[in-house]
Amino acid sequence: MSECGPNTTMGVPQPHTLFVPVSPGLESLLFQEIRKIGGIRPKALSGGVEYEANDHILYRSLLEIGLGLDVRLRLGRFTVRYLDAIVRMVAELPWSHWLGAGQHVEIRATSRRSKVMHTTAIEERVHSGIRRAVGSLASENSEPWRVFARMERDQLEVSLSMAGLPLHQRGYRLASGKAPLREDLALALLSLSKWSAGSPLVDTFCGSGTILIEAARKARGIPPGWDRTFHVERAPIFDPMRWNSIRDRLRLHMAEEGAVGQFWGSDRDAGAIESARSNAERAGVLPDLSLAVAPVGQAPCFHQLRETPSGWWISNPPYGDRVRGGNLRPLFQTIGRLFTELPPGFHLGLLVEDAALAHNTGVSLQSQLMLDHGGKKVRLYCS
Ligand SMILES: C[S@@+](CC[C@H](N)C(=O)[O-])C[C@H]1O[C@@H](n2cnc3c(N)ncnc32)[C@H](O)[C@@H]1O
Repeated sequence: MSECGPNTTMGVPQPHTLFVPVSPGLESLLFQEIRKIGGIRPKALSGGVEYEANDHILYRSLLEIGLGLDVRLRLGRFTVRYLDAIVRMVAELPWSHWLGAGQHVEIRATSRRSKVMHTTAIEERVHSGIRRAVGSLASENSEPWRVFARMERDQLEVSLSMAGLPLHQRGYRLASGKAPLREDLALALLSLSKWSAGSPLVDTFCGSGTILIEAARKARGIPPGWDRTFHVERAPIFDPMRWNSIRDRLRLHMAEEGAVGQFWGSDRDAGAIESARSNAERAGVLPDLSLAVAPVGQAPCFHQLRETPSGWWISNPPYGDRVRGGNLRPLFQTIGRLFTELPPGFHLGLLVEDAALAHNTGVSLQSQLMLDHGGKKVRLYCS
């Protein structure tokens, strides 16, 4: 049983190769985020962006990427034609820099167009290799380190999540409304609808407040990962001085509460507004938001915004069966009427499942990106 040697080196290779997965369709927006934080030689691939990074850029990636779902560090890639070779090759990777003994790991293997296709067996061999490298592993007890073993054309690529919990879990959303929008998708809606930070923003179907909270945090300069922890902080080679100096620099750029923009949220469901309030409080932006319990036709923002020359109304109204069922046509006609009563400098962005509903607004809307939201294909329409 012979295998070609691993093309990895011992020690902590720098720069690291990172891969950030993202919801399909958002690769180019993520690419821009990664360029902004200094990612080296970024390449937009289908399903994510790959780039090189030193520790500084790795830490910034975790704190500042808002659209990606994870930050995965590629530990090694090698050719595998026999299952049993995996243990030795995986054991040679520099696990001990990242995992102390007694950690809990969870391995997810995939295999395509390869001689070794049995993913459960790959996972077992990868687990044994890691155990050989670090001594012992816990079977559970804490949030696991997530290891990805991806076999493609006999090349096994092994990566380790530096994030732990998915990146979209910012830490502020404990309370959720009926069909909450994922935080990364809310941020994507803001970018795709070209909302400019500092401009008034309305969400009359705000549910647990995700769109408004993501916007208010962006306007205030609060990085997406500011309030949470990451697995990299537990790594033996974690550099707390560097981490803290990055955080100190980010803190310098944050604006005072209430200083930037106006954020108007309403929902007919009192429980949803309660969730929005407590989420906004945890997210540090409650003073920036004006929240009200009201059906869309009576949302107080429409009176307040009559004199405001421009702004954005961005919402994901009910999808039908998931939230309310029934005929949503009159609701979208109401949205259209209310929008046309706003000053002409206002923009509309609606995330909807059914194109016909968007057209019921009577507003000229262009279809933007299709997104997968909780197994539903939804599309953003913008004026
Ligand atoms: C798809 S959810 C919005 C989820 C929200 N973006 C979030 O992140 O939690 C739709 C929301 O519209 C609200 N809703 C439904 N019909 C409404 C109406 N006529 N007026 C105001 N709100 C309504 C529901 O209570 C629900 O919270």
